Amino acid sequence: MKNKSTVKHRVDEESATIINDGTTNPIKIELKNTSFVLRDKEPKQLAIEAKGLVKKFGEKRAVDGVDLAIPKGTVYGFLGPNGAGKTTTIRILSTLLKPDDGRVSILGYDLANEADEIRKRVSLTGQFASVDEDLSGLENLVMIGRLLGFSRKEAKERAWELLSAFALEEAGKQQVKNYSGGMKRRLDIAASIVVTPELLFLDEPTTGLDPRSRNQVWDIVRMLVSLGTTVLLTTQYLDEADQIADRIAVIDHGRIIAEGTSRELKASVGTGVFQLRLKVPEESERAEEVLSGKLQTEIHFSSTDSSAMSAQVTNTALVAEAISELTKEGIEVIDFSLGQPSLDEVFLSLTGNPPEEKGSEGYQERNHHTEGGG
Ligand SMILES: Nc1ncnc2c1ncn2[C@@H]1O[C@H](COP(=O)(O)OP(=O)(O)OP(=O)(O)O)[C@@H](O)[C@H]1O
Ligand SMILES: [Mg+2]
Repeated sequence: MKNKSTVKHRVDEESATIINDGTTNPIKIELKNTSFVLRDKEPKQLAIEAKGLVKKFGEKRAVDGVDLAIPKGTVYGFLGPNGAGKTTTIRILSTLLKPDDGRVSILGYDLANEADEIRKRVSLTGQFASVDEDLSGLENLVMIGRLLGFSRKEAKERAWELLSAFALEEAGKQQVKNYSGGMKRRLDIAASIVVTPELLFLDEPTTGLDPRSRNQVWDIVRMLVSLGTTVLLTTQYLDEADQIADRIAVIDHGRIIAEGTSRELKASVGTGVFQLRLKVPEESERAEEVLSGKLQTEIHFSSTDSSAMSAQVTNTALVAEAISELTKEGIEVIDFSLGQPSLDEVFLSLTGNPPEEKGSEGYQERNHHTEGGG
């Protein structure tokens, strides 16, 4: 009797080759006479796919060969200093600016030929507020709703819904010019999601905000993603990218110089800080001998705690060995930790410069140099 679950295909090495390049999802199986591809139940769809994106302003290559593959339903962070090309890239992807070179597909639509389709589905909150300061928050949102084709009643309902979701209900009827920076920013984001977009671009959504307002913006981003929106945001803040972005592209001089999850970026720097404390401070010299032998690196003593020591390690696997060696020597460790480098250190190691976390004023003065030919 044939029972579906017991039928097995025997595939031996001679008759089949299983090809998995280790990077892409589909696994290709080639049998002698036929070949088929096993896919994930739902192949990861891309919200944004870009190849070789270039934008020149005169001699300046503001965007200089950017490739992107951003899966739907994720938060993607562009991290880079002033003038890196973040805004220019976002303006291209949101159809506001034509690239000089490269191919882009947004939500499956071709940027060069199907910009109208893309515009229906994406929204952009620019680097600088775009709401009308003389109107109230409510009036701004109602006006946008009306422009998008809502009836008066629908527009008003949606406006109050957003005002309440963004903690602006009380200020709803006040003129925007009386809002704080954080309130304006929240209203600005509300204005770009009157119709929930499939893809939202947020250009420096938290620059200049206090920590509490930044947290509120992050909550809004998380809420949007939970509703299925893909978010691409730019930031100059490392901790912001660390906090909310699933993946991060580090951009400098119009190029992506590193890409990955925050964990991957940190791991790529390859060093971590190993810290430990001994039960008996008098054993620290003996411990130093053991540790420096195992870790092949300099051991630092804490100036405030005679039982604490630390070391910069490149091979974290050695840490476990070092601890077990201490135990073998009868040296008791009461606590230890292995910390990852911060994103600041990642940026420093990638660019040779610490990131700038200041406003954009003064950029032009500081960065007059253009590198010959790009
Ligand atoms: N319209 C323009 N005309 C000429 N140059 C421009 C224009 N827009 C941008 N640039 C230049 O292109 C480069 C990238 O600018 P862009 O605004 O994309 O950087 P950014 O990463 O958004 O910086 P910021 O953090 O300051 O917002 C800069 O050197 C900038 O001066
Ligand atoms: Mg910018």
